[in-house]
Amino acid sequence: MEMMAQLPSRISRIVLVGFMGAGKSTVGALLAQHLRWQFLDADRVLEERVGASIAEIFAKDGEAAFRSLESQVIRDLLSRSGLVLALGGGAVETQTVREALQNTQETCVIFLEAPLEVMIARCEHQPGADVRPVLNDRGQLRRRFDSRLPHYRNAHLVIKTESLTAEETSLHIFNAVNSLLKENAPA
Ligand code: S3P
Repeated sequence: MEMMAQLPSRISRIVLVGFMGAGKSTVGALLAQHLRWQFLDADRVLEERVGASIAEIFAKDGEAAFRSLESQVIRDLLSRSGLVLALGGGAVETQTVREALQNTQETCVIFLEAPLEVMIARCEHQPGADVRPVLNDRGQLRRRFDSRLPHYRNAHLVIKTESLTAEETSLHIFNAVNSLLKENAPA
């Protein structure tokens, strides 16, 4: 676990960022159980609000329309406390999302890092691989990954997940956050 940016002095929500297949949703749900917090996946909230799947939104309205909805949903969700929130892999492409992550108080952003090939392989082994429109555009994956990397690395903590199970990753985060909360707690 690598510490990148100064952590907030109090943490009321944890946001997981990283590329498709990083394990954000699986790890997020486990972490929320450890913390006894709520877990939400921003993509699922978006799909419920819009009443359409992400693949349908991409096909009908295009990626720009999806990014705008995604940004709105994430900014709304960042007002909640006691929340572990998993973002879609491309959310950090949008400047308003990046600004909201930086400017929302008491928010700890965690980057789940793994090699691109490992994450693509994980996605391929998941049921419904075809529900990720960005995954189908193979030629662009490396470019997307490279351009997102600096934004992912603006997180407070980076955790390399390649050789960890989702449960191990969630426990690493749980322990790191717990101890940091104690270190930062007022005397
Ligand atoms: C996307 C990742 C997806 C989803 C959408 C676009 C991307 O989320 O938001 O299909 O641009 O990388 P996951 O990272 O949860 O697969």
